Amino acid sequence: MDGFDTVIYEKKGHVAHVTLNRPHALNAYSVKMRDDLFEVMSAVRADDEVRVAVLKGAGEKAFCAGADLTEFLTAPSVVRARRIRGVRDLWGLFLKVPQPLIAALHGYVLGSGLEIALFCDLRIAADDAVFGLPEVGLGIIPGAGATQTLPRVAGLPRCLDMLLTGRRFNAEEAYRYGIVSRVVPRERLFAAADEMARQISGHDPAAARKAKQAVARGLDMSLEQGLELERNLAASLMKNRPARSKKTNKQMS
Ligand code: CAA
Repeated sequence: MDGFDTVIYEKKGHVAHVTLNRPHALNAYSVKMRDDLFEVMSAVRADDEVRVAVLKGAGEKAFCAGADLTEFLTAPSVVRARRIRGVRDLWGLFLKVPQPLIAALHGYVLGSGLEIALFCDLRIAADDAVFGLPEVGLGIIPGAGATQTLPRVAGLPRCLDMLLTGRRFNAEEAYRYGIVSRVVPRERLFAAADEMARQISGHDPAAARKAKQAVARGLDMSLEQGLELERNLAASLMKNRPARSKKTNKQMS
């Protein structure tokens, strides 16, 4: 799958690699990138061969330095923006992707860049990563989910601290706050993400999907409902296990 201006999509075995590719503009998130990313994430979602996807940024300086500020004043009207969201709801699509998503973060991870990362299930940071949500300082609020995703990950006080001050913070702080689960030296970042993807893709893909679903959906439920969800997902996994084992054995022989 190719032909995108702003995103590189590669499939290696069971792992999809999605690279934000506007290094000259620190991979700023543009309208074109939204459209390309929508196509790519739709393809990931529909592809059963893909067991896990790794998102990263091209170039040395950034995963993504936020929304493209040169498009700021050319934003469509609220009505048009709502209509576009109806057909190309990228953030809604991220929530529907059943495979685990890993964000490999280096350099600047600002605004929409951090928001894209927060839609992933796992985040690994390079030791040079710089995070921040500058939106309020620009007179806006995050529009790609951070007001909802960040408190779920980092808790309310830390989220509001970051959101209202707009201050930048480093990988160590992101780790302490649970925003990333690992920090590695910059030169090891992509190898570490690949290794994590390799481990995940080596497991039964149905188990990985159900585990992700149980955690992600359970977070919005009461404990009782969450336990019920877990029981149901575990039961459906067991029910389909013989068919899956047969398929795997056939593939291996
Ligand atoms: N949009 C468009 N272009 C951007 C950009 C952005 N968000 N961030 C960087 N660039 C471009 C620069 O204009 C520059 O282009 P030229 O070489 O053509 O001049 C190039 O990328 C390199 O950037 P800098 O020279 O500025 O690099 P630096 O190392 O000096 O500074 C930086 C890096 C601190 C990240 C600085 O570029 C910066 O502050 N960028 C803007 C960050 C920002 O405010 N992002 C928007 C957040 S708001 C949001 O994302 C949510 C929303 O919904 C609007």
